[in-house]
Amino acid sequence: ATQPKFVHALPNPLAHTLVPDVDRHPGADYYEVRMGETRQDLGLRDPETGRPLLTTVWGYGAAGESPTYPGPTFLARQGRPARVRWESALPRDHLLPVDTSVHCGPYKGGHESHCRPYVRTVVHLHGGHVPDHSDGYPEAWFTPGFAETGPHWTREVYDYPNDQEAATLWYHDHAMGITRLNVYAGLAGFYLVTDENEERLVRDGALPARRYDIPLLIQDRSFRRDGSLAYAGDIEEAEGPAEKRREVRDPITEDRVPSIEPEFFGETILVNGKIWPVLEVEPRRYRLRLLNGSNARFYRLTLSSGQPFHQIGTDGGLLDAPVPRRQLLLSPAERADVVVDFGDPALGGRTVVLRNDAPTPFPDGDPVDPQTTGVVMAFRVTLARSDARDAVLPARLRAPIPRHDTAGATTRQLTLVEEKDDYGRVLPLLGTAAQGGLRWDDAITETPRVGDTEIWSVINATGDAHPIHLHLVQFLILDRQPFDREAFEPGKPKTVKPTGQRTPPPKGDAGWKDTAVMQPGEITRVIARFDLPGLYAWHCHILEHEDHEMMRPYRVK
Ligand code: C2O
Ligand code: CU
Repeated sequence: ATQPKFVHALPNPLAHTLVPDVDRHPGADYYEVRMGETRQDLGLRDPETGRPLLTTVWGYGAAGESPTYPGPTFLARQGRPARVRWESALPRDHLLPVDTSVHCGPYKGGHESHCRPYVRTVVHLHGGHVPDHSDGYPEAWFTPGFAETGPHWTREVYDYPNDQEAATLWYHDHAMGITRLNVYAGLAGFYLVTDENEERLVRDGALPARRYDIPLLIQDRSFRRDGSLAYAGDIEEAEGPAEKRREVRDPITEDRVPSIEPEFFGETILVNGKIWPVLEVEPRRYRLRLLNGSNARFYRLTLSSGQPFHQIGTDGGLLDAPVPRRQLLLSPAERADVVVDFGDPALGGRTVVLRNDAPTPFPDGDPVDPQTTGVVMAFRVTLARSDARDAVLPARLRAPIPRHDTAGATTRQLTLVEEKDDYGRVLPLLGTAAQGGLRWDDAITETPRVGDTEIWSVINATGDAHPIHLHLVQFLILDRQPFDREAFEPGKPKTVKPTGQRTPPPKGDAGWKDTAVMQPGEITRVIARFDLPGLYAWHCHILEHEDHEMMRPYRVK
């Protein structure tokens, strides 16, 4: 039996924000945030008794407060740095089955592999312009009390300069080889940056004010009958389609361990940590900051009322001007900042459903179930207008986004390919057109110099779309171009045969991005300026791919 929909109120992440200590580090907002395990009501009800079923999750919390899923929201302002001491109070054993056969190359840290200890964490500020020591490098992980640390760990307190424009960022776990499990367990939250321009737009009534500004973290999960989280490899008891459990051998102990799955898709949709919630709204405009925080599921969103979303921003900032969109495609980690108008009198008392129809995997996989995964949440237009002034979107949202000069930019020919790993599993890889697929431990191939502008031309030779994310930068999508996938041989750049024109991105995609959908059979070109030296990562944001080698280090020199 599926759970009832639109009965639980949507939790508002802006009602659960962190309070900075402004004295401890003069000139900066200081926070201490701790990860821990907790039991939470995600809205699941026992089908027989109607009793709430609590779910054990992992979350973040301010020191002295209990952790929550999603974590509390950071409010940052451009020009005001933040410092965060992230620490872990998580248990010794993982909540979910750990596959110790992935990303477990030997290293010189005193342990035999990346895969031990089982519970290790490191926090990445996704979309943040952050020095490398505070970026949450996958091998900079740590355990409770910093008793054990990864080979790239350097510090307890992270520095976030907040020298970027207003944007909806998010923070989430990024530990080597288990990011999919840590994020699935609940380790994610919002980090909102504001700036003078955005504050002015709100003050002038051009954008909805804080109480009409709602961040939405969309995720899919599977649950066992008792309400506990089920993850692929451990899912026989889940209510949805049972995945066949597959086992492999731990390369060190030779023990049998549950295998990573190619992608995880759950049959229950949660927004801000509640299943299929409802938000009671006033007849007016709302700002919705959509974030796909799912492991692998894409969402193609529409409103049941048929009305458009007015997109005002992308991953890294506001668009030049609002763009009306009937549907929005959001791959894992992408954000869309939109304004929706519930002010039409015909909507009074009605329920507007946020729907999804993106196949899994995207774009040619199984269709959604209209009863479950086809439904995200609902808005019910039941409240009275409490504020006479409604927001009126302006013609221009900002000074135009500066376009990069493509002349003089270095172009890198990169590729997305699939190979097989030692266990016969599909191994999704990033690589270069000249060398083909490369693994995390292969020598670094992307080495921009500080201050360089580069074009990364990514040839997707696989059959699926992959959301490709670069740390450090916000990039612009230049164009997408079909090529002959059959003729292309990884390692032989001459075999790249374009079969059509270069098409610039649609207007809603023409803003600052840190994650972009790379469609199968297309070459996607993005342009970015790499302005801080150090070691960063780029990867597919399908977390099962990221954990299974579809991630590479890069170095800005
Ligand atoms: Cu949102 Cu490298 O991650
Ligand atoms: Cu991928």
